[in-house]
Amino acid sequence: ALKRWPGELAPVVSPVCLRDENTNELTPYVLGATPLLDGTAALTALDAALKAYDLGRGEWPTLPVLERVLHVEKFLQAMLKTRTEVIKLLMWEIGKNEADASKEFDRTCDYIRDTIHALKQQDRNAAHFIVEQGTIGKIRRVPVGVALCMGPFNYPLNETFTTLIPALIMGNTVIFKPAKYGVLLIQPLLQAFADSFPPGVINIIYGRGRETVGVLMESGKIDVFAFIGTNKGASDLKKLHPKPHRLRAVLGLDAKNPAIILPCCDLNATVKEAVSGALSFNGQRCTALKILFVHQSIADEFVQKLAQEVNALKLAMPWQAGAQITPLPEPGKTAALTALLQDATEKGAQVMNQGGGEVAASLFKPAVLYPVTADMRLYQEEQFGPLVPVVPFNDISEVIDYVIHSDFGQQLSIFGREPQQVGELVDIFANQVGRININSQCQRSPDSFPFTGRKDSAEGTLSVEDALLQFSIPTLVAAKQNDQQIA
Ligand code: G3H
Repeated sequence: ALKRWPGELAPVVSPVCLRDENTNELTPYVLGATPLLDGTAALTALDAALKAYDLGRGEWPTLPVLERVLHVEKFLQAMLKTRTEVIKLLMWEIGKNEADASKEFDRTCDYIRDTIHALKQQDRNAAHFIVEQGTIGKIRRVPVGVALCMGPFNYPLNETFTTLIPALIMGNTVIFKPAKYGVLLIQPLLQAFADSFPPGVINIIYGRGRETVGVLMESGKIDVFAFIGTNKGASDLKKLHPKPHRLRAVLGLDAKNPAIILPCCDLNATVKEAVSGALSFNGQRCTALKILFVHQSIADEFVQKLAQEVNALKLAMPWQAGAQITPLPEPGKTAALTALLQDATEKGAQVMNQGGGEVAASLFKPAVLYPVTADMRLYQEEQFGPLVPVVPFNDISEVIDYVIHSDFGQQLSIFGREPQQVGELVDIFANQVGRININSQCQRSPDSFPFTGRKDSAEGTLSVEDALLQFSIPTLVAAKQNDQQIA
């Protein structure tokens, strides 16, 4: 597959370093290489996608829905055969532990199955007429055009495929750029793509963002931009499109999800849920809990228990049994986390556990910081890593203000056992975030549930059914009721 593209190859370095037997030094482990495409190669991919779409007249966009389903089913069968290899690459390339890597692969396959099921249901519903005031109508969902799908490094399979598969199955042609870290793990799937879809329907590009997708956006020929990543990345690319009003965007962006921990919570259960919410996959989830507001009356006890639980997490390489905290794939990430931690400690927070600092090979010891205050960077900035800021509060209005004034609005969690108190907060926050979790951490799953956010955290909604709508347009075929035969 690499030979398809001329030009430079970039090495893909594992976040895991190996110890050199002779020097005893840790050396980066080069996993493989990926092509570095330029704008011309990206435009070649665009041409192929445009040709296969052919202004909506191509074979793929006009294929009956149930026939497109057959192609996706074929792809799924081929993908299932790559399971072992892809899981291994998820572990080596982005440092995901084996349980999480397996879960990511399996939930992605489930999502594809659910999408097929939902589309068949949608197709059955579309056969019925709607009747109103003597007019009958049938709704056809037609594709939008050429879609550009880009996913993040933290869920390079699941997050990407939850836009890629709906885009394909609805008849769009696609340009797919794998995540920067998480590019090699797509390689085992290349043959499956090639064998399952007609030429030009899915086109994979690699390389530096500005030089490849930047050029695609500037062409003005991208109709749907599906992007899960940072606000900056999304807005830098969106503004290159010369006709933004013609660009449909499906975006999953930054977040700073708070947990609100009330005195009436079950303390032990809350600590466990908070640790998992803040530190699963090293806190590198857009849905992670990124700041914990704890009522002053229980804050000391909470923080003590939290520190104990965090200290008990196993720092290890992804393939080691029971690994919970693993190396971070982003170069420079441990330095960025250290700077956030230092900013907080210089302004009065304490590291409440034996955390902070790099152990080896970008393995960062998770740190609980307390008390975090409004003047610290960690109060507003998304850390996307293993730092757990804890803010004590006296009056719930302080937390309400935080949520209402935040630039982000993906999710929040409320921990408490008094229905009235929790219910009142749910009512207050219902128009501030995309999901409110009660006595449980923030999360996207189950993937069939709506996944969205307010403010700077998202554009559009993803769930199995919603994604089918995002990547299609309803065309109404209407007639007078007495023309039912023709319609
Ligand atoms: O980073 C976002 C992922 O979709 C997280 O999914 O919250 O279900 O683990 P999850």
